[in-house]
Amino acid sequence: MQKIALIGFGTVGQGLCEILRDKKDELNKKYNYDWKIVAVSDVMKGSVYCRDGLNVEKLLNFAASGRSLDEYDCKCNADILETGWDALRTINESNADVICELAFTDLQTGEPAISHCKAAFESGKHIVTSNKGPAALAYQEMLKLAQNNNVEFKIEGTVASGTPILNLAEGSLAGNTITSVKGILNGTTNYILSEMENGMSYDDALAKAQELGYAEADPTGDVEGYDARAKVAILTNVVMGESFGINDVSCEGITKITSEDIEKAKSQNARWKLLGSTEIIDGKVVASVRPEMVPMSHPLAGIMGATNALTFTTDLMGDVTIVGAGAGKIETGFSILTDLLAIERG
Ligand code: HSE
Repeated sequence: MQKIALIGFGTVGQGLCEILRDKKDELNKKYNYDWKIVAVSDVMKGSVYCRDGLNVEKLLNFAASGRSLDEYDCKCNADILETGWDALRTINESNADVICELAFTDLQTGEPAISHCKAAFESGKHIVTSNKGPAALAYQEMLKLAQNNNVEFKIEGTVASGTPILNLAEGSLAGNTITSVKGILNGTTNYILSEMENGMSYDDALAKAQELGYAEADPTGDVEGYDARAKVAILTNVVMGESFGINDVSCEGITKITSEDIEKAKSQNARWKLLGSTEIIDGKVVASVRPEMVPMSHPLAGIMGATNALTFTTDLMGDVTIVGAGAGKIETGFSILTDLLAIERG
C-alpha cells in the first residue's frame, strides 16, 4: 500500500485524485497497485493529515466548495487526525512514502519546491513532481540527494504533462547516444500561433488559451518562452547529463511575431513554431528557445493547437518523434500517476 502526501491541491493534485478515484479497481487489478492519500497540505486550501488515509471524494468536495481542509473531520480517532500542518511539517512528520510536490514554485529560485524536495529526501521519502523549479535549477543536486537516501526523484510531469518524454529518453531509448532534442514544448504559444493563422488576433488567442487553462498563472511565462526554457534546461540535464540552469538556455518568445509575419510564412509554404532545443554542436551542448519558420514538409509543422511534439536524434534509431498533450488537468494528473506506479513497481 503506497502512502501519498500531496503538497499543493490545485489543478494537478485534483486531477490525480480524480484518476485515482475513477481507476481504483482497474489499477489494483492490472498492476496490483493500492494507495492511500494520507495528507494534503495547501497554503490556500488548508491541510489535513490522517495516517490511516483520507477520503478522496471528500477531499475533492472540499476543493470544489472552497471550504478549508482545516475543517476536515473523519470517523477515525481524533488523535490521528491533524489539521493545519504546513508543507514541511507534512513532509517531515507524516507517514507518507511518497510526497507529490505540486505547489506553486518560483522559477527564478525554485522555491519552495527545492526545500520541499530536500526535506523529503532527508526524511527517506520519494518525490514525484510536475514542478519545473527543482529539475530546471538543481537537477543533479536533487538526483544525488535522492540516491544518497535510497529514494526516487521522479519528474515526468515537468515536460509536456503526461506525454512520456523523459521516460522515453531514459527508458526505451537507453543505449542510444542522443545528439539533439528539438520540438514544441509550450502548448499556449503553439495554440496562439495556430489561431493567429486562422485569423484571430494575438490578444484574443492569448485570452482563449487562458480560458482553456493552457496558460501559466502569469502567461508572460508562456509567451516570452520562459516555460519552454525551463523545459529545455530539464531536457539538457536529464538527456545530456549536464547541470544547466535557466540562464544557460538562450530564449526568445513569440511576442514580436505579427499577423504580417504569419501571412508571410503562409505565402512561403511555411509556419512559425516556438522551438526548444538542446543539441551537441562541436562537442558542446547548446540549448535555446526561439521562434522558427519551419517548412510545411517538416514533421513539426503539422503540430497544431496546444499539442507538444519532440524529436530525438539518436545514433542507433535515427530520428524518433513523440507527439502528445502538453498541458491539462487529467494529462498532468496522469504524469504523477505514471511516476507513482513506477515507484511502486520498483
Ligand atoms: N503553460 C504550459 C503550456 C503548460 O502552455 O505548455 C505547463 O507547462
